[in-house]
Amino acid sequence: MNIVILKGNIVSAPSFGNLEIYENGYIAAEDGIIKYVGSDLPKKYKNCEITDYKDQLIMQSFADMHLHAPQYPNLGIGLELSLLDWLNTYTFPTEAYFKDTGFAREVYRKLAEDLVQNGTTRVSVFSSLHTDSTLILMDELEKAGLRGFVGKVNMDRNGGKDLEETTEESIRETLRWLDSCTTENIKPIITPRFTPSCSNELLKELSKIARERDLPIQSHLSENISEQEWVKSLHPDTTHYYESYKKYGLWNEKTLMAHCVYSDKEERKAMKDAGVYVVHCPSSNINLSSGFAPIREMIDEGLNVVLGSDIAGGSIISMFANTAEAIKCSKERSIRIEGKPKMLSVSEAFYLATSASSTLFNETPGFSKGNSLDAIVLDDQNLINAKHLSVRERFERAIYRREENAIKAVYSKGRKLF
Ligand code: GUN
Ligand code: FE
Repeated sequence: MNIVILKGNIVSAPSFGNLEIYENGYIAAEDGIIKYVGSDLPKKYKNCEITDYKDQLIMQSFADMHLHAPQYPNLGIGLELSLLDWLNTYTFPTEAYFKDTGFAREVYRKLAEDLVQNGTTRVSVFSSLHTDSTLILMDELEKAGLRGFVGKVNMDRNGGKDLEETTEESIRETLRWLDSCTTENIKPIITPRFTPSCSNELLKELSKIARERDLPIQSHLSENISEQEWVKSLHPDTTHYYESYKKYGLWNEKTLMAHCVYSDKEERKAMKDAGVYVVHCPSSNINLSSGFAPIREMIDEGLNVVLGSDIAGGSIISMFANTAEAIKCSKERSIRIEGKPKMLSVSEAFYLATSASSTLFNETPGFSKGNSLDAIVLDDQNLINAKHLSVRERFERAIYRREENAIKAVYSKGRKLF
């Protein structure tokens, strides 16, 4: 049996808004699975090797539950446009390059490395519509030590001539992709891009495949007002965007919907009733001038909310920075909106970025026994302090501010990735 024991200042988010902190504590894993977290090392581990990180922080690593791998080369580009123009002008032409599997391998290897270097160990990723490049993406993420989900994107309309499949091709390629997946820790997720990209027949078939193979689903919802109006014109029988997914059966407790900026009370109730996850992507929502998602309301109403970078609508891969963006977004709403919805605290936002997605990985929140040991070791000792800071204060600062190379180690399933 492989035993890993880490010592340091341990910080995790066992529930929304709460941190569990062990100063000079221990975390022990057997074959990658956490067996103990606390202040005193159990006797049975007394003769085991301990990796002592001294006064450094050992915190849960991040889950980025919405990002577009083929948009990685576009980080920071074209963000003066809003969603639909940005898709047509920058995003679709770039995704079309991923027909080239050699290019895909090169980009996806760099992306996987960048994720790990930034302390992201769990992901839910959109690939492009290309099957072979999607398999390469899964392979690179697996090799880098990440866990999570990757979807071959389905789009049989409105993609332009270089980024569109026929309906028949989209279904056939989805099945070929599913039958070719071999990765152990990176699993397939059914990924209709969004309603304007998918014919009704395609949505129907994808729902059937998801049901038959018991697969999760990811897409986009109510990100932008023009998008919402477009969906309404494509589905005149609906009053809400979500119905275009629900009527085909793409709406359940294993569905991740990114953005939900303009989801009103009724759409939110439909999410709550079905157990659909909201993936909040604050950086993207500001970059593409989409708006401010009603995250506090969603949480108060009992929805599952998780966090995503949405690169390259989002312009930062670091989930430290995306967590800070979520807090800032919530403050912006609190300042502007009548009734002043409460802002997100650091510990609340950190929960969304880590523990909130645990069910999707068959785990429980925090550094719980039975979870994989996924962690970041962070060194902040060269930052100047005016007074002695508590571990909590140092953790809160780390969300906003870190020195370059502050991340000293990242663990996934108990394995040190670097
Ligand atoms: N809606 C449909 N496709 C996309 C995409 O690639 N990014 C974002 N932010 N929204 C989308
Ligand atoms: Fe997206």
